[in-house]
Amino acid sequence: MNNIASFQNLSLAELEKFAGKLAAILKTGDILALEGDLGAGKSAFARAALRALGISEDIPSPSFTLIQTYNTSCGQVLHCDFYRLSGETEVIGLGVFDQLADSIALIEWPGRSENLLKPQALWIKLDFTDDLDRRNLTLSGSHNWKARIESLCP
Ligand SMILES: Nc1ncnc2c1ncn2[C@@H]1O[C@H](COP(=O)(O)OP(=O)(O)O)[C@@H](O)[C@H]1O
Ligand SMILES: [Mg+2]
Repeated sequence: MNNIASFQNLSLAELEKFAGKLAAILKTGDILALEGDLGAGKSAFARAALRALGISEDIPSPSFTLIQTYNTSCGQVLHCDFYRLSGETEVIGLGVFDQLADSIALIEWPGRSENLLKPQALWIKLDFTDDLDRRNLTLSGSHNWKARIESLCP
């Protein structure tokens, strides 16, 4: 995994804007692994990406359903939250891996199945800052992701 980019002290609007720009280059098979503590903004990031993909309906948290599925102009999008799963076996049991090749996946708490997702996903780590309303973002992933992200951030 390569360090791809980092952004410091993003406001919610800035984070949402970046999520929207990233969403615009996503294609079927892509996985965004959204890491960060509770309240860091993983769901906010996923919602902004889904909005940019044209979802105007309510976007509920997948904390309890574990997976929410959306049909978008870019195909099927899965919004997952693995927080309540204990590890790889339970994630596999959810059946989500069978769908990844045919979907764009936005996954909160991806560390539950880190090894399975690691090579393929773009890892987006959200960190709190001293300012309650700002977050640091750190992106890492494959060379392929690096090239795609660089095209986003000239
Ligand atoms: N710069 C920011 N980026 C993301 N969220 C922010 C920011 N500033 C404030 N927030 C707030 O923090 C909360 C993040 O919640 P949520 O996205 O549900 O977190 P998570 O899914 O990581 O547990 C939201 O209420 C959001 O409005
Ligand atoms: Mg969340």
